[in-house]
Amino acid sequence: MKRIVILISGRGSNMEAMLKAHLPVEFAAVISNEPSAQGLATAQAHGKGIATAVVPHRAFADRAAFDAALAAEIDRHRPDFVVLAGFMRVLTETFVARYSGRMVNIHPSLLPSFPGLHTHQRALEAGVRIHGCTVHFVTPGLDSGPVIIQAAVPVLADDTEDSLAARVLEQEHCIYPQALRWLCDGRVKLGADGTVTVVDATVRRDALISPNLDT
Ligand code: GRF
Repeated sequence: MKRIVILISGRGSNMEAMLKAHLPVEFAAVISNEPSAQGLATAQAHGKGIATAVVPHRAFADRAAFDAALAAEIDRHRPDFVVLAGFMRVLTETFVARYSGRMVNIHPSLLPSFPGLHTHQRALEAGVRIHGCTVHFVTPGLDSGPVIIQAAVPVLADDTEDSLAARVLEQEHCIYPQALRWLCDGRVKLGADGTVTVVDATVRRDALISPNLDT
């Protein structure tokens, strides 16, 4: 079974969705940079002996020192894949290179739109009618690695940042466990040109139109 290490910083709802998805994988550890991350307690309560650890970024002089300590903690658990699930630190190139092709992230927008923070507020301000989330490989550029799967949702006229975030999060909880399953089954092929193919995945051909056409 593939070994997975999940990195979190807070709530951990994506982590929880993966833990509950009955994936044929071994969750070796959940690591947080924030000692107070709610997700640590969730992982411990899940049982199945998942190790939890904290590597507190504030205790390190700079990014390089933090990333080196984080990598040492990750490597102790010998993961096949490193899964970023609401992990709110920008990582150094050295760290990213170490897990090249083995580290994935979920981002709450339809990349390449709205990389970075406050994606839901920015989507509302931009007036887009369709928003969503993306699972992608992690590369040195922020939120710009090869895309594995995306989910789109409509933006509603009365949406607030919170209501839109909740609609997107529901989809995050669907696509992230699916992406991890594909990865562990060896179905995600990452080409040298950065293109991703998911072997034997089906594709829906119906469009999401928002607002809808008159019927
Ligand atoms: C999610 O919206 C994720 O896309 C973003 O941060 C949020 C983390 O939520 N990177 P949670 O900790 O998984 O509940």
